Amino acid sequence: MIKFAGPVLDEATIEGVADVLRSGHITSGPWVERFEAALSAHCEGRPVRAVTSATAAIEVALQLAGIGEGDEVITCAESFFTVLNMIVKAGAKPVFVDCDLVTRSIDLDQVAARIGPRTRAIIPTHWPGSLVDLDALYALAERHGARVIEDAALVLGSRWNGRPVGGVGDLVTFSFHPNKNITSIEGGAIVCNGADEARRIETLRFHGIERLPDGTRDVAFPGGKFNLPDVNARIGVAQLAQLPAYLATRRALVERYFERFRTTPACALPPQPRDGDGQSWNMFCVLLPLDTMRMSRKEFRDALAARGIATGISYEALHLSTLGRRFGYRPGDFPNTERIAERTLTLPLHAGLRVEDVDAVCDACADAMDRARA
Ligand SMILES: Cc1ncc(COP(=O)(O)O)c(C=O)c1O
Repeated sequence: MIKFAGPVLDEATIEGVADVLRSGHITSGPWVERFEAALSAHCEGRPVRAVTSATAAIEVALQLAGIGEGDEVITCAESFFTVLNMIVKAGAKPVFVDCDLVTRSIDLDQVAARIGPRTRAIIPTHWPGSLVDLDALYALAERHGARVIEDAALVLGSRWNGRPVGGVGDLVTFSFHPNKNITSIEGGAIVCNGADEARRIETLRFHGIERLPDGTRDVAFPGGKFNLPDVNARIGVAQLAQLPAYLATRRALVERYFERFRTTPACALPPQPRDGDGQSWNMFCVLLPLDTMRMSRKEFRDALAARGIATGISYEALHLSTLGRRFGYRPGDFPNTERIAERTLTLPLHAGLRVEDVDAVCDACADAMDRARA
């Protein structure tokens, strides 16, 4: 079986986890602090706080930004369910815009057109291989006094004008789910602005509890329970140290995909970055030429699965989910997102994959496409 995604966990990391388990301190403690310090160093010294997932990170970021009932949050219809869910859970209204068909980045002209008096935040999702234009995004957000929560779940290690994602900007959230660039089993982090926000996140991620001078505790607002255990943080520390190596492996595999897909099969590919422009590759997604295929995407995926190759769909159109439609969205609202959602196929990519595996995937795709177009 060629896995679609997954982590590389070496023996030293496994031994390190065993040490944490033996230490008796298994929930949040010194390893979380070390993980946060290492993430902060990666983000040019900005404060970072670890939580249990990127979903929790976005939930906490929205709460930190004070977003709730009556507020609007602009986001891209081409993203993962998390973004929609957390906006709705916060009590705010999701305002969708379309994405660019090739880069899948949020269409900032459409964001500008939808910004209104109730807009409190913009949540763009960064795509592997091409970041959202941060200069244009922040110029727009600042003009309108909107907060930005960058969903950087897929792009830890990418760079914008030479600077790491998370090293610039407002609130930036990462995911350490096993399919991401590094893992802590489950886990996430928020990059924020200064010590006050960091302290506020510490409260929000742990019940909303404040410690009073007399040794008792109080809760002034409903916090969640999103603190990352040390066992997870121990893995995260080891993984972060390996990030450059993992990204180099992923980049080499993606170069092979680009080389093999240049001619066959006739799929639309992500933009191929120039050498050294600092893009990380969490996923390699192609668009199937369904108009010229006598096979559905499901049948194409089944043909690959029959050869032991797992694939994914990234992502379904958020505005057409049952929850999205509750806000009045309909088919045809966002043609680029809908075209992507209908045709996209995520091919196997992870740091444990070999170039021969990519070749096997490409051979299987070519054979399936031959049959689909015969
Ligand atoms: C773009 C994007 N954002 C956020 C998330 C949520 O990440 P987590 O599983 O850590 O909550 C995901 C998960 O796949 C994602 O793909």
